[in-house]
Amino acid sequence: MIVIMGAGGATGGATLRSLAALGAPSRALSRDPARLASVLDEQTAARTEVHPGEAADPQSLRAAFRGAHQLFLTMANGPHQVRYELNAIEAAVDCGVEHVVKVSAPAAEPDSPVAVSRGHHLVEERLRSSGITTTVLRPYAFMQKLLLLAPGIAAAGVVHGAMGRARCNYVDVRDIGDAAARVLTRPELAGGTYPLTGGRAYSHAELTALLGGLLGRPIRHLDLSPSELHAHLVGRAGMPGWLATHVVEIQQLAVDREETPDDAFLRLTGRAPRTLEAFLRENVHRFR
Ligand SMILES: NC(=O)c1ccc[n+]([C@@H]2O[C@H](COP(=O)([O-])OP(=O)(O)OC[C@H]3O[C@@H](n4cnc5c(N)ncnc54)[C@H](OP(=O)(O)O)[C@@H]3O)[C@@H](O)[C@H]2O)c1
Repeated sequence: MIVIMGAGGATGGATLRSLAALGAPSRALSRDPARLASVLDEQTAARTEVHPGEAADPQSLRAAFRGAHQLFLTMANGPHQVRYELNAIEAAVDCGVEHVVKVSAPAAEPDSPVAVSRGHHLVEERLRSSGITTTVLRPYAFMQKLLLLAPGIAAAGVVHGAMGRARCNYVDVRDIGDAAARVLTRPELAGGTYPLTGGRAYSHAELTALLGGLLGRPIRHLDLSPSELHAHLVGRAGMPGWLATHVVEIQQLAVDREETPDDAFLRLTGRAPRTLEAFLRENVHRFR
């Protein structure tokens, strides 16, 4: 049995759907199983056992992991993320889970400039020392998060950023799901560390040009300093301070370390990743 944590979220949900499409059964965890069950499509529901799971409560996780051989470990960012993921690893060890696929992030290093990535490093290290076969997925920025900008772009025609001319390796969350499903169903792929990117990286200027072309009207890119971007995200976009700090750190990372596409997704799945152009075309109505 494969247990999927965060199954109602972006990466967990995508993995659940990709596994179901392959015909693989899984156990999907949520703190609100009734809500999760109500949003599953027919194909996914037919392959999924929905189960309660609260990461703050190790006992709840041990109950949820009983009989499982594999675990897809993902967790929403937040102040307790590391503790919750460590709880999951301890429960996985107790329950005899043999393989964990963890969603991590770029620059998961002890002295990473991105605080969230320092947390991912701690979790990766604990997993590697647990004796469980560990596969790490390190996706770059999710294309789907661009939809959070859609109302602002629709209203003002502006993308605010602090990346200058640096490029970002946007990846479609559905590709993260496909990559995860692949490593969960092909034992020979287990045990690696896979950076997940799209097929090409885009600067904010390139992103706005692409979007403007699809919308048939110009979209501007406003390049701010990191502190100006933080103030904009909190004051104008209503983002919590910790999340604004994370966004600024991620953009600064792209400035400091050039982002170039990686071929891990192609190697895992045998196909090219979904493109940013296709994603924006599919969702262009959201930006009107
Ligand atoms: N966003 C990006 O561009 C990006 C890029 C690279 C890496 N990442 C990494 O990707 C991961 C986030 O993945 P995501 O977007 O899939 O997350 P998400 O959608 O924000 O949340 C995933 C799930 O976490 C679950 N969760 C939260 N608190 C919980 C608790 N106490 N117990 C059990 N489950 C809990 C929620 O499930 P329920 O509400 O159903 O319980 C939620 O569905 C992060 O670790 C992040 O660092 C993100």
